[in-house]
Amino acid sequence: MSEFTEGKTQIIKEEKRYNPQIIHYYNEIIRNWNKLNFIVQKTLRSLEKSNEDRSYTNELLLLATYRLIFEKVDIETIIKEMGQKNDFISFLEKLKTFSWKLALKGKSKLEKLSIKEAIPSFFIEHLVPVMNFDFLKENIKYMNQYTSQKNITFRINTLPNDSLESLKNSIEKEFNENNIKIRQDAKIPLIFHTSLKNKRRILLSDWYRNGKLIFQDKASFLIIQLLSPQSGDFICDMCAAPGIKSSLIAQLTKNEAKIICNDFNNKRLKFTKFFLNFLKVSNIFLINSDGTNFPVNLKTKFDRMLIDAPCTGSGTFLSNPELKWRQNPTFLHQNIVFQEKLLESGLKYLKPNGILIYSTCSLYPEEGELQIIKFKEALEPLTVPKWFSPSYKINNVELKGTGRLFPAIHKTQGFFVGKFKKKEK
Ligand SMILES: C[S@@+](CC[C@H](N)C(=O)[O-])C[C@H]1O[C@@H](n2cnc3c(N)ncnc32)[C@H](O)[C@@H]1O
Repeated sequence: MSEFTEGKTQIIKEEKRYNPQIIHYYNEIIRNWNKLNFIVQKTLRSLEKSNEDRSYTNELLLLATYRLIFEKVDIETIIKEMGQKNDFISFLEKLKTFSWKLALKGKSKLEKLSIKEAIPSFFIEHLVPVMNFDFLKENIKYMNQYTSQKNITFRINTLPNDSLESLKNSIEKEFNENNIKIRQDAKIPLIFHTSLKNKRRILLSDWYRNGKLIFQDKASFLIIQLLSPQSGDFICDMCAAPGIKSSLIAQLTKNEAKIICNDFNNKRLKFTKFFLNFLKVSNIFLINSDGTNFPVNLKTKFDRMLIDAPCTGSGTFLSNPELKWRQNPTFLHQNIVFQEKLLESGLKYLKPNGILIYSTCSLYPEEGELQIIKFKEALEPLTVPKWFSPSYKINNVELKGTGRLFPAIHKTQGFFVGKFKKKEK
């Protein structure tokens, strides 16, 4: 415990990253960052202590607060774990008297939600106009759930030409023998569910080491199902790294579609190259370029275009809690600008009547519906299956060809998706 409390919460040393206890507290403190800070500051204020006027670090206070308020550990245990300085003991004694009712007195409904559910007010303010308040709360709660209760999903990789049935039987048999329970998805046979606590053992299994299992969120699978790639297609994955979706396109087309995988980030693309080889993906061409200025001969037009755009990640707080605290107007604005330019450029390289899928793992309308509206004239909406929820109404009008996945409903990351045909003119 001591290493964690020495003020090093932001960077965990390599050798500590495999210590489940350190990772657990690190993630939980980040997940509850504003809530814990609120309690700590209130307690210090009632002790009339300033931030400088004490002998312990802020990280120690956050951890002690987590242990005492969230885990209901007694003061004696915390003192044994973290130290016996007098001012720390007074802090713990004061902390024990903390009352939510008093602390939140006079705060607005939005402020209360932000603090109690540990979510930035920027996120709430952006979603209140498009989402019912109770539904917003349900989505926040789902994304904030305690990590160890989480389930994870993986897909079976049949490339280059294995049969799903025989792989499934062998994997199930071996996992059963090792008491790793897995469950095939009711609607998507390639997807399997298991408890997060099995992840480490699955990572060590030969199935994983040989590229037969890939951890993949169901939402990301559904996006490619919607793209419905066909053998012989010429497909562009404009923002492809690390290549999870590209590899699925290859799998669904049995390596018989020609796929251009583009990404701006050279390091991520290098990993993509390794990853796709490892999964036995072929017929793929990697390009390292800025998709807003795509360096391909204009005569080469694609049958299908996937723009899985960079975004704020506001639908992914369950797996990326640190992203919560990056949400602000500048971050959102930067993403909006890139998404719009990527859409503009992507459309240029798509054949008339070619299929466009635009997706973001964000819950904000600015990164979904409001982007699509800008290109309405060039796009003919296509059917999005009913298992996607309707997207937000904009000016009371439903936007055809679009849909959403919500953490609270679909038990996936939050996603926006649009499926369109490029109009002839
Ligand atoms: C959401 S991730 C893509 C995930 C990927 N489709 C997958 O499923 O594995 C967005 C990607 O966009 C890339 N990106 C950001 N700006 C870009 C740009 N201007 N042109 C091309 N790629 C860009 C990022 O490097 C990042 O890899």
